[in-house]
Amino acid sequence: MKLTNIALGIATAAAIFVAGCVSSPQTVSEESLGLRKTDLYTEQTTVADKTMYKEAVPGTGVTFERAFENAPPMIPHSVDGMLPITIKDNQCTTCHLPGIAESMNATPIPKSHFTDFRPETHLSKDGKIVKNGKTVENTSDLLVSNRKLNDLAGARFNCSQCHAPQSEGQLVDNNFKADFRATDANKASNLIDNINEGVK
Ligand code: HEC
Ligand code: HEC
Repeated sequence: MKLTNIALGIATAAAIFVAGCVSSPQTVSEESLGLRKTDLYTEQTTVADKTMYKEAVPGTGVTFERAFENAPPMIPHSVDGMLPITIKDNQCTTCHLPGIAESMNATPIPKSHFTDFRPETHLSKDGKIVKNGKTVENTSDLLVSNRKLNDLAGARFNCSQCHAPQSEGQLVDNNFKADFRATDANKASNLIDNINEGVK
């Protein structure tokens, strides 16, 4: 092989090599694929952030901004000794029931929680399906109801099913930014007004 051919060969190989380097995507090793900073394949150096709930007793907490419009507000105070909620012991209601809440400086439980959205359903003596007093063909007929109750709806009794205390020190930041249609919708809810809009 002539010297010029060798030189040409080397130049071509170098060009291909450079091109390969430029276009090759950055790689991430499998060990570092997780959200955590430590090796995905070993737990030895991995220590989770301690879950630390607010210790502020009710009355001293600062409420959280709502996560999105009409999202259930999160609990800004300690729930020590209040959970689990049982049929005989629901301390949440002792401060948050309307009529008491105002004097406790707590947000009153909203009207939506005193509404039954489930149609009252039973079988008539002759085996027909009766929903909200009307005979219907199928159980899927008439799915929602909007019945005002004097007492807290049973479906809302277990507050901590939807309202939860928040821990400090998150592993991953939540960057979600909600859009609120009204100026104070980030600190109060108006679900029942939305539901009843245009309803007479
Ligand atoms: C001793 C009275 C008391 C008890 C018991 C209590 N709370 Fe509260 N709660 C308050 C007060 C006062 C506030 C206002 C913020 C603060 O001071 O922490 C509040 C705030 C809240 C908020 C935030 C409301 C908003 O508008 O952002 C939620 C949600 C809440 N409490 C849920 C609960 C739940 C669920 C329970 C039961 C596990 C409970 N609370 C028990 C007094 C109480
Ligand atoms: C099935 C889920 C669910 C349960 C159970 C539930 N809530 Fe709510 N709560 C919500 C949602 C959703 C909202 C916001 C929309 C609305 O007003 O209905 C809310 C709103 C609230 C608010 C804010 C009202 C306002 O004017 O901004 C308070 C206070 C509250 N709930 C307290 C309670 C308490 C106390 C209990 C238990 C007795 C409870 N909730 C049970 C879902 C729930």
